[in-house]
Amino acid sequence: MNREVIIACDFSSAAQLTEFLDRFGEERPFVKIGMELFYAEGPAIVREVKRRGHKIFLDLKLHDIPNTVKKAMAVLSNLDVDIVNLHAAGTAEMMTAALEGLTRPDGSRPLLIAVTQLTSTSEQRMRDELLIDHPIDEVIVHYAQNTQAAGLDGVVCSPLEAGMVKEACGKEFLTVTPGVRFADGDAGDQVRITTPARAREIGSDFIVVGRPITAAADPLAAYRRCVAEFCG
Ligand code: C5P
Repeated sequence: MNREVIIACDFSSAAQLTEFLDRFGEERPFVKIGMELFYAEGPAIVREVKRRGHKIFLDLKLHDIPNTVKKAMAVLSNLDVDIVNLHAAGTAEMMTAALEGLTRPDGSRPLLIAVTQLTSTSEQRMRDELLIDHPIDEVIVHYAQNTQAAGLDGVVCSPLEAGMVKEACGKEFLTVTPGVRFADGDAGDQVRITTPARAREIGSDFIVVGRPITAAADPLAAYRRCVAEFCG
């Protein structure tokens, strides 16, 4: 699997997204469409970005009973996106059902990855609110192993966790990592961050980069810098 930079396109309208993508000329970066844009614009925005020739990570983080997730995944599979995701907390049964729903009659399907613990969840909140009293690193590795046992392709995690996930699940198991900043950039609200070059060293397969590219004065130059540092 080649390393790739995915741009988190956290815009609230199709107009903002297409204006942003127009700035890339002939380049066709991998695009992440999240809940905000999908709930605002619906499947039409996915079809439009696909029509423009971009690969798409549809970041909707499904979490429901297995039958509902299976049926929802079948609908998402018809959109012909490249990566979709769900919460590993939905259990192995839910993840297996999701995989079944996602698989097309010809056997093809988008990559399916799982969120282990959101990076916004601290160990203290996990213990006090969710009553999970194992160390957070142990929980992340265990959820990654559940994900792998269910037959999924990888997990979304902090780049700082990618090394231990690879150690536990093997190097073929994908790690998709947000929380990336340039060494001379602004961290914003992200806490556990690293640079594209360091994410590469730790073993991320895909980095998800939002504001360092979307808010840059020259997004194309920022994207190219990211690719140069991460992909080499
Ligand atoms: O702008 P920034 O680079 O922080 O964007 C990171 C993207 O990755 C956002 O779309 C955010 O929702 C997403 N994300 C994250 N941390 C996670 C999961 C997803 O930052 N644990």
